[in-house]
Parts: sequence; structure tokens; C-alpha cells
Amino acid sequence: MIGRSIATLAVAACSAIMAAAGPTVKTLGVSGGHTYSYTIAQPKSGRNTYLLLHGFPSSSYDWRHTIKDLTNAGYGVVAPDILGYGASSKPTAVEEYAQEKLGNHVAEILKHEGISSVVGVGHDWGSGLLSTMWYYHSELFTSLAFLATPYSPVGPDPINLAAINNKTTAAFGYPIYGYWNFFNETDAAGLIEKHHDSFTSLLYPTDAAVWKTDVCPIGKLKEWIIADKSSERPSYITKKEQKTHSKILLNGGYTGPLNWYKAAMSGLNRSPTLDTGRQSIKKHVVFISGAKDAVGRPELAQQTADAGRQSGLLPDIETFVVPDAGHWVQVEKSKEVSDILKRLA
Ligand SMILES: *[C@@H]1O[C@H](CO)[C@@H](O)[C@H](O)[C@H]1NC(C)=O
Ligand SMILES: *[C@@H]1O[C@H](CO)[C@@H](O)[C@H](O)[C@H]1NC(C)=O
Repeated sequence: MIGRSIATLAVAACSAIMAAAGPTVKTLGVSGGHTYSYTIAQPKSGRNTYLLLHGFPSSSYDWRHTIKDLTNAGYGVVAPDILGYGASSKPTAVEEYAQEKLGNHVAEILKHEGISSVVGVGHDWGSGLLSTMWYYHSELFTSLAFLATPYSPVGPDPINLAAINNKTTAAFGYPIYGYWNFFNETDAAGLIEKHHDSFTSLLYPTDAAVWKTDVCPIGKLKEWIIADKSSERPSYITKKEQKTHSKILLNGGYTGPLNWYKAAMSGLNRSPTLDTGRQSIKKHVVFISGAKDAVGRPELAQQTADAGRQSGLLPDIETFVVPDAGHWVQVEKSKEVSDILKRLA
């Protein structure tokens, strides 16, 4: 009996130590009066730290496998819920979602934690934010990884949605950003919240190809959710994970998350006084695409990489295509993605 309780105590003590060394969630007040929640784990001495920036509609929860893989390998991580998401502030004003401000918030977190250099990793809108952070805070990064959405340098003009949709319709038979028009409508957040199971089943689909017919073409996503259509839960998300995801997203609602799109469409992300010298990334950069991603298509990433290599924007660029994965590449094929990320350390 005694031996056994000592063994039990030893196990309890051991798991307490492991828990203390694992990732923890912290909060910080940043500029603009906002509060950020972020998951953080310290690296083993001499190891790098990864900054993980999530996309839409997501939260730091989408990095759950990546965080485990990187911390198990001794790396540090910082994974914020970015403004509008999870346990961070969710202001309703579009202006608060200008990417320059969001990048400053993330830089403030790193400064507060005494972290002066990171491997920058962005997924989807997180890639957009990483692009912006490169422009305003390039000194922070030793290398960068863009998942699903390639590098898109801060520029002088607002995004030209119609041009992108026309060009991609000509190339692929559907406009990759046709759903943006719906996201720009005033009732979009309410409709998504009301039909959230339907929306989630479409955004995290079993078959990535459904995006070509029901997300990308203008008006289709709205039609799908109003009809409450749904697709089967994909194998890469458990029922419990799906519930957690919905709870996180519905807790704050979609006004904040959709403001990321509205800010871009309102021209809030452009830099009128552009310093082109700061656009070029003279560090090792990787693009990681899911082979079946209908929005972040691998060909588009490859085109951006080739053009960047030629123009000098991306002198040291490498591209990876993960087979059998769609848009949620780090959730769907976490090990493959973590292995690529570890090479950036
Ligand atoms: C896109 O295509 C539509 C329809 O063909 C056309 O009216 C519009 O001017 C085009 N816009 C741009 C920016 O190319
Ligand atoms: C988005 O909405 C704003 C304000 O309602 C409008 O000015 C803008 O033209 C819209 N953009 C697109 C691409 O629909």
C-alpha cells in the first residue's frame, strides 16, 4: 500500500512538473485599450520561438497540434487569439482591425515577453497579418512561413476584389474570393451566427472541393447557410474539437472576425507612404499549401514565389504542397506541416 501511494505521488508530482513546463495561457493589455489572450511556452535554452498567427474563422485553437509538436521538440511558441477572436477583445469598429494596428498588438506581446526574435508563421488571414508585420516589424523575424495564403506585401492600394475574382474566374472557372461580397454585407455576422453548424460544416468540409461550388462563387455561401445545408464532419476534427471550435467562435460572434475583411475592402491596410525597401523579405521564407485548397491554391502560391524570386521580393523562397490537404493544412496534416516548420528553426 505504501509503495503504491508513493508511486502515485511520484506520478502526480511528475505530471505537475510537466504541466508547469508546458504551454500556458496569458493575457496582456495592449495599445488601443484592447486585451489579448495568448498561449505561450518557453523554449529549451538556445532554441527558437515560433509566433503562430491564426486565420478566419479560427483562433489559437487551430494551432493545437502544431503547439504540441513544436513544444515537444523543445521550441517556444506564442499563439495569440488575434483581435475579434477567442478570449481577446472584440471591438465592433472596423477601424480597429487595420492590420498595422493588429501587428503592433502582436509586437507588444512579444516585447512584453522579452522575445526579440521569432520564426513567424501565419495561416490564412494570419498570413496577411504576418505580411504586415514584416513591413512594420521586420527586425523580429529570423524566417517566415505562410500557410494557405502566400506573402502579400503592404501596398499603396486597397485590395481590388473584382480584379482578383475576374482573373481567377478566367484561370480556374470560379472566383476565389466570391464569398468576400457576402462578408461585406451588414447582416452577414448575424446570419453566420444563426446558421453556425451549417457554416462550420462548409468552412471545415470533408471534401475540400465543395468550396469551388459553394464558397467561392458569389452568393453561394449565403445560399448554403440560409438553406441550413451541411456536410459530414471531416475526419481531421473530432466531435469534441468541433464543439470547442463552435463555442470559441460563437462566444465572440462574427462581427469582429468579419471586420478583418471589411478593413481590407475599406483600404485600411494600405500604406499611402510606401517604403518599397521594406517589402522585400531577405530571410528564408516558405509557402505551405494544401494540394486541394480551392482558395489558397498551390498554383497561386507558386506564382507568387516565382514572381518574388524574380523581382527580389522573395530572394530565398521555398514552396511546399501537402498532399491530401485542403485549406486547414496544419489541422489536417499537422505532422507534415510541423516537420516543415521545424526546418525553419
Ligand atoms: C470584372 O468583370 C466584370 C464582368 O465581366 C466587369 O464588369 C468588371 O469591370 C470587371 N472588373 C475588373 C476590376 O476587372
Ligand atoms: C463593402 O461595403 C462598403 C460599405 O458598405 C462599400 O463601400 C464597399 O464598396 C463594399 N465593397 C465591396 C467589394 O463590396
